[in-house]
Amino acid sequence: MAKRHSWWEGAVIYQLIPRSFADGNGDGIGDIQGLVNRLSYLRWLGVEAIWLTPIYPSPLQDGGYDITDFKNIHPELGDLSSFHRLLTSAHAKGLKIILDLVLNHTSHLHPWFQRARWAPKGSPERDVYVWSDDTTRYSDAPVLFRNFESSNWEWDEVAKQYYFHRFLRHQPDLNYENPWVQEQMLEVVDFWLNRGVDGFRLDAVPFLFEAEGSRCEGLPETHAFLKKVRKRIDQNGRDVLLLAEAIQPVEEASPYLVSDELHGAFNFVLTAHLFAAVASGNVQKLRFCLDEAQKSVPGCRWALPLRNHDELWLGDGHLVAEDVIQTIRTGLHQSNGHWLNRGINRRLAPLLNGDPRSNRLLHGLLYSLPGMPCLYYGDELGMGDWPGLRDRDPNRTPMAWTSARNGGFSTAPEPLLVLPAITAPGYDYRVLNVEVQKQLPASLLNWHRRMLTCRRHLSALRNGDFEILESTHPSVIVYLRSSENMTVLVAANFSAAGASLSLNLNRWKGARAREVLWGCEYPVANEDWFIYLPSYGFNWWLIGEVDE
Ligand code: NOJ
Repeated sequence: MAKRHSWWEGAVIYQLIPRSFADGNGDGIGDIQGLVNRLSYLRWLGVEAIWLTPIYPSPLQDGGYDITDFKNIHPELGDLSSFHRLLTSAHAKGLKIILDLVLNHTSHLHPWFQRARWAPKGSPERDVYVWSDDTTRYSDAPVLFRNFESSNWEWDEVAKQYYFHRFLRHQPDLNYENPWVQEQMLEVVDFWLNRGVDGFRLDAVPFLFEAEGSRCEGLPETHAFLKKVRKRIDQNGRDVLLLAEAIQPVEEASPYLVSDELHGAFNFVLTAHLFAAVASGNVQKLRFCLDEAQKSVPGCRWALPLRNHDELWLGDGHLVAEDVIQTIRTGLHQSNGHWLNRGINRRLAPLLNGDPRSNRLLHGLLYSLPGMPCLYYGDELGMGDWPGLRDRDPNRTPMAWTSARNGGFSTAPEPLLVLPAITAPGYDYRVLNVEVQKQLPASLLNWHRRMLTCRRHLSALRNGDFEILESTHPSVIVYLRSSENMTVLVAANFSAAGASLSLNLNRWKGARAREVLWGCEYPVANEDWFIYLPSYGFNWWLIGEVDE
């Protein structure tokens, strides 16, 4: 009997920031109604799931990751009934909805925290957060937001104690040692499950518990709690994705992916190696990292992002060589700036010097590797960013829909916009937008759509096996995706120069071969093919017949 696949295995996830995607009521702030109005675009593009960054009430000191009410919607975005409309409309179009679930912390304005600081020391109310009389507790836990914080402890004048925060001082960490906290957060999971969401992206999962003498990351107690979350999901009986955000090496991220814990995790190491391969023209480490990820968690459970709403993480000094990091950074208009907390604070297109060839190359990989390709809103257009805005806002500016005022994002007067629409040279919304690119057959947008259409027809790319083949060229990676009746061969050139190489086709002797994107017939696979890939070029070949 054929294996039943979960909806998320190999699904293409589109990440968007609701405040920056589309404004439905003309107040200058993107909202849920705006998104509902644009669902047909996402369906047209061919993505399968939409991941929304947090939509909950929040003072927005950390882009909504500082929450004051886990069971409601930020009034600027809509309300629970607009959310219901979104779910129903998305489902009617075959699109899934993934919510951000922030377990680790709340906003300091959350009623729980306000209650905690006024409650007596040692009381159950105070115990909802992590407190200390001095700052020496958990001193092995590194400070994550190094640009903004110098300590994980903040003095609270009312409580007369320090509280622990792994992120901003406005985000006190919840105390998961407290069973009440655990139960409250499980109820949050139930609340959204019962409303019909299809998945959760679990923010900052490694940090739920603390222990003296450790980095306070991925502790056994944290895994035990995540197993409880999984149990709640399973009890609900629907096919719901639990996707971990753990910015860590594969060996530290994979323990979340055991059978009774989370379904998937982002592979940020792969992201780093993809950028490093473009910068260095060498695929050796990329091959190694793909191999390692598949060996530790085989199949399609890794989510594959290029960029997101945070900075680009290139490892904390041990992953990507310093000279390669320098190449990536100097590619950014010879500038050494843009370094924020743990990485480079730019969008994809400027990171690639605006070169659509490398955008295609990298997405061509994402769309053909085993896992869940993640597309960050606007990257399908090669949208730019606005360096100089505060924190990570340069990467979070309004989506460019049309050449009209504000890029068609909002009808509000420009100063009211949530963030300025991009008019920087080369990335001006009057030129670079959905409407224009839809009309240009050779645009990046139409290319993404065509790739996603092809991917949909090739079941081997969705959940087939994966095998890396030997390559005779140091800049070219060659691999196979294969299912019972279909084999897709991929070769991708990470060099700025063209590459000639031979591919050994012995094992498919006599099989018909077609190039996927343009349908060109290739010589019947016999022995070796000698192929040429242009600068940043790649190809997908279908060996054998398409699954009907
Ligand atoms: C990870 C999120 O992606 C980031 O934007 C946020 O600042 C931190 N978690 C804290 O919630």
